[in-house]
Order: sequence, then structure tokens, then C-alpha cells
Amino acid sequence: MKLTYLLSCAGAVLALSGLAAVAVANDDAKPKAASPIYGVTIPDGYRQWELVAPAQEAEPLNELRAVLGNDVAMKAYRDATLPFPDGTILAKLAWKHIQSPEFESASIPGAATTVQIMVKDSKKYATTGGWGFGRFVDGIPADEAQHETCFACHQARVQGHDYVFTRYAP
Ligand code: HEC
Repeated sequence: MKLTYLLSCAGAVLALSGLAAVAVANDDAKPKAASPIYGVTIPDGYRQWELVAPAQEAEPLNELRAVLGNDVAMKAYRDATLPFPDGTILAKLAWKHIQSPEFESASIPGAATTVQIMVKDSKKYATTGGWGFGRFVDGIPADEAQHETCFACHQARVQGHDYVFTRYAP
């Protein structure tokens, strides 16, 4: 009797922990906010990606920026592969450009402003040079009007470099 009771208790505990695991898994599986037009989301782990190059914008935003690439992007940069292969993802991080409180002539990143993403999928995004675009502020996608501007500017300026401005900083 005692043994059966113990076993059923153990069974109940196992079943409960199983339920908890399912609940956590479901939470993780929550769909992430996707950009309008393209359906691009912020990729997992992008903050750990390698640096392609830094950038700075003086006017009107006064921002410091960094472009990061996933493994596919970094290999393409190192091998000088153009166009970038499918699976390439580039992330552009931007911060307010502020003066260091500790050293007058030094610039440091202030508040984060935007995270912008470009994803290469030559079939899915065939009409925009193979690139899908996403712009996020605090993780929330910008509106459709802003996403209508992305490809136009990249196309007008850097069509000859697979629509990508950033070169690999030596
Ligand atoms: C008016 C021009 C312009 C528009 C519009 C624009 N970009 Fe860019 N983008 C740039 C420039 C210039 C760079 C180079 C890095 C820098 O100077 O910030 C860049 C760089 C990028 C990069 C890094 C890869 C690269 O090409 O260097 C991503 C990702 C990106 N933009 C995404 C977007 C998204 C998403 C949108 C639309 C919401 C967008 N861009 C709209 C000019 C533009």
C-alpha cells in the first residue's frame, strides 16, 4: 500500500514538472514581432555576432552605429563573395552619440535607438534584391511607411555591392 502511494505521488510530481516544462516551452514559442511588408524578426543571439564595421551619422540623428553579421555573412565578407548567399543576416545597431563624462574628447554610445535587420533570401524577397528588411525600436517593428523606404535607398546607392553599404573594416 505504502509503496503504491509513494509511487503515485512520484508520478504526480513527474506529471506536474512535465506540465511546467510544456508551459515554459510554449512561452518560448511565442511569435516574435515581425516587420511589416517583409515579416523579418530580430534574430536570436544577434548581440553576440561579429563586428563587420562601425559607423557614425552626424546629422540629423547624431548616432554611433555598429553593423554585425551572422556566420554566413562573415564568411561571405572574408571570401569577398558577392552577392551575399541566402542565409546572410546583417544587423545594424544604433545609439545616441554622447560625450564621455570621463574623457572630454571621447565619444560613447548613449541610449539605444534602433536595431535594423537585413535578411538574404533570394526567392522570398526576389522583388527587393533578395533582401528582407526590419526596423525595430525597443523590439517593436516600425510602421509600413518606414519599411517602404529601405530598399529604395539601398538600391539607389549600393546596387553594385548587393545593396549593402557596409564594407568589412580591416
Ligand atoms: C536614406 C538612406 C537609407 C534608408 C532609407 C535606409 N537605409 Fe539602411 N543603411 C543606409 C546607410 C548609409 C547604411 C550604412 C551604415 C550607416 O551609415 O549607418 C545602411 C546600413 C544598413 C544596414 C547594414 C547593412 C548595410 O547595408 O550596410 C542594415 C541592416 C540596414 N541599413 C537596414 C535598413 C532598414 C531595415 C531600412 C528601412 C527601415 C533602411 N536600412 C533604410 C542608408 C539607408
